[in-house]
Parts: sequence; structure tokens; C-alpha cells
Amino acid sequence: MRIIHAKNKEEMSKIAAQIFIEQVTNKPDSLLGLATGGTPVGLYDELGKSGCDFSRVTSVNLDEYAGLPGENENSYRYFMNDNLFRKINIKLENTNVPCGTAEDLQAECKRYSALLNKLGTRDIQLLGIGPNGHIGFCEPDTELFATCSVVDLTESTIQANARFYNDISEVPRQALSMGVKEIMDAKHIVLIAEGAGKKEILKKACFGKITTQVPASLLQLHPNVTVIEATGLEEE
Ligand code: GLP
Repeated sequence: MRIIHAKNKEEMSKIAAQIFIEQVTNKPDSLLGLATGGTPVGLYDELGKSGCDFSRVTSVNLDEYAGLPGENENSYRYFMNDNLFRKINIKLENTNVPCGTAEDLQAECKRYSALLNKLGTRDIQLLGIGPNGHIGFCEPDTELFATCSVVDLTESTIQANARFYNDISEVPRQALSMGVKEIMDAKHIVLIAEGAGKKEILKKACFGKITTQVPASLLQLHPNVTVIEATGLEEE
């Protein structure tokens, strides 16, 4: 793991944006894995301002809430359209997010996994980290899903995401998420994290034991991970 210590969220976003801009400049038809959450918003703003040509890029997102249609502002499809896709010249038909309102969610997971297989290895996969160490919506457990699955969100995740809703009872209890094997199937993984609240979990992910109870710790097994952090993490 290569760990880059940024001074603050702005610097983290700029450094991460530079990695994406270089990728797309060098390979205009890049396949990018994208993420949601508060952390990537600054990075997406930077990409919007960059003038970089995304017209030949294809994107795949990590996850989506079960039950939320793309028009719902808490859905990840809405988030991506609003925070990134409308700011760059990517073709909307080349952007992929699991469908949270599919009649048969298991079948939708199978479709998404088949799509990932068809598209092939991502050039970059962007990740955030949940307060409990989750990546995508791969929640801590005794075993983890390898491929796209319907997951039950943990109490910690429901609480962490409640800030986006009027009431915690409105937070979806389930989501569709890429599995760990699929997340890891990227040439380069870029994990961003900011805020002192993420410092301890990031420390476990980067330097702790490799355990399914901290899904991000599995990234230690990937040969090409860049962590860009503004949490105050110190080197071990
Ligand atoms: C959600 C997403 C994750 C994201 C995490 C952290 O649960 N499924 O992909 O990394 O939130 O979000 P934030 O950046 O808001 O802390």
C-alpha cells in the first residue's frame, strides 16, 4: 500500500483527482470504478472543473440502496448524476449503477456481476471506507460476499447514513453491493478517507490484521493500492 498523507480534505481531493485525470488522459476509454459518500464529493468537483475529456470513459459504481429509484435524492444513482456525471462529458449510457428497484434483486445482482465480467478489469477503483471498515457495502462479518449481493446493512452503517435522511427509520436496511472479489478486480485501487473520526479504522485497515471483520483490511492483499488520507494517520 502506498499511503499519501494530505493536509486536509481539499488536498486529498486534488491529489485523488490528479490520479483520475492522468488515467483518463493516458487512456481515454478507461473503465473506472466509482464510489459514493461524503468523502468523494470534493474529488468529483475537481474532476468537474478539470475539463478532462470523459467522452469515451465507462464507469461502474460499487453499490445502491435496495428500494430507492434513481430519482430519489438519497439513491446512489441520483448522487452520481448530481455530483459527477452532470459536471463532466461522460455519456450517461456508459455509466452503471446497480438498480435498487429491480423486481428481483438477486437477479439484478447476477446481471450486475455479469456486466462487470463483460466490461473486464477496471483501470481504477475508487473506494471510501465506512466507520466500521466496510468497502462498498461489504459489511464486517465472519464471511464476505465474493460477487454482487443483496446485503443487510449493519446498525453502524444505518446510523452513519442517517444524516442524509429526515429520520433514521427512512434509511434503507438493505443494499446491492459489488462483492469483495469484484472490488479487488481493479488494476489500481484508490482509497480516500478524511476526518479524525476515520483515523482508527483506517489504521486497522492499513496496518492491522487481515480480517473479514474489517473488510478494508483485505486491501492489504492487493498489489496496487493508493491510500490518500486526511485523517491524521501516522505511519506504523
Ligand atoms: C457508504 C458507501 C461507501 C462509503 C461509505 C463512507 O456506506 N456505501 O462506499 O465509502 O458510505 O461514506 P462517507 O464518505 O460519507 O464517510
